[in-house]
Amino acid sequence: MKPIQVGLLGIGTVGRGTFEVLQRNKEEIRRRAGRSIQIAMVADLDTARAQQVVGDTAQVVADARQVIANPEIDIVIELIGGYGIARQLVMEAIEAGKHVVTANKALLAVHGTEIFAAARRRGVMVAFEAAVAGGIPIIKALREGLTANRIQWIAGIINGTTNFILSEMRDKGLPFDTVLKEAQALGYAEADPTFDIEGVDAAHKATIMSAIAFGIPVQFDKAHVEGITKLEAQDIRYAEQLGYRIKLLGIAKRASAGVELRVHPCLVPAKRLIANVEGAMNAVMVQADAVGTTLYYGKGAGSEPTASAVIADLVDITRLHTADPLNRVPHLAFQPDELSDVAVLPMAQVVTSYYLRLRVADQAGVLAKVTGILADSDISIDAVLQREAGEGENQTDLIILTHDCVESRMDAALAQMQSLPTVLGPITRIRKEELN
Ligand code: HSE
Repeated sequence: MKPIQVGLLGIGTVGRGTFEVLQRNKEEIRRRAGRSIQIAMVADLDTARAQQVVGDTAQVVADARQVIANPEIDIVIELIGGYGIARQLVMEAIEAGKHVVTANKALLAVHGTEIFAAARRRGVMVAFEAAVAGGIPIIKALREGLTANRIQWIAGIINGTTNFILSEMRDKGLPFDTVLKEAQALGYAEADPTFDIEGVDAAHKATIMSAIAFGIPVQFDKAHVEGITKLEAQDIRYAEQLGYRIKLLGIAKRASAGVELRVHPCLVPAKRLIANVEGAMNAVMVQADAVGTTLYYGKGAGSEPTASAVIADLVDITRLHTADPLNRVPHLAFQPDELSDVAVLPMAQVVTSYYLRLRVADQAGVLAKVTGILADSDISIDAVLQREAGEGENQTDLIILTHDCVESRMDAALAQMQSLPTVLGPITRIRKEELN
């Protein structure tokens, strides 16, 4: 049988990996897919670089629309990124009747509803395993492997750059800015790392997972997004003393009033496996009613790990493209007309526990006042740590861990504590998840 014909838009790091892994493992992949998979066309503005990678095995063009216009091409891989030209090209490819494989989490988290609807109208597949957690097959797991389950929550370390920074801050006791520079020098962080360190990249991925887990539309605009730029090394140290690690988590949780969708730094018990995921690695924990807790770990970025996910999608499409569209796996796991309109909850309605650090005057009655506010707010304390004041010092750090409470109640209590004259600086509040 003639190989399935693939057009690749963008041959940077992941595109090169995709080309090379397809070449290297082509026989095994053919035996699995039932047919060879051939990258027949590559579009890249840097045609010389593209030509160098593919040699004479594929036609290289500068204009992506030539790929989309070619009737021989069955599948278009979009590896351009962003929601500008990539969005137009994906929509045009769908309209041209091409199946699409993309690693573009930003595009799907923001414009997924429109893209999946267009794909459904044209009877084509849009596959996106590489968009979340790189080489970890988490989309496949959520969409197919866990299909029997009612998923309760997902908590993931889904941004390698920030996990690398947090690991280094903990290991070396260094401040955020210093470690960010180191990460950039080592090539872990982009020259403009904003999307990573501000939590946006993780929120794109969490948004996609929330849709698949709960059968809701992708709603990036409703996600709470908080990065790691304000984290201080001293909080990582205090957390450690209390038996916790601080991780940037992407959380999607089913609550009674709706769905929580949030990315923020989070204390996690050090004894949990996920707390020990270090460096640029990713991990996703899923709690579901039948299977219980499962954990998926691996490389969340990089040339061949991401190519591994892209090629898995190519194989899926090769196997399924002749199937009746109604018999394919739905893009978001649930049948498109079965999506739920359950609300994504505002942060004020999220229920979680907290780590608080207060810089306080070291004098009688201060602890009682602070704990009194918490008691009056019906917020239960789990642990208290008071740093011994240094020689001649008249102020100290007070660390409090609380049990679960609704965020609006914690906000009100924080405002009261902050206005105490014996609280000497801005209170640090970091959320905490036990993940049990
Ligand atoms: N920038 C991402 C990360 C990789 O640091 O994990 C691609 O999603």
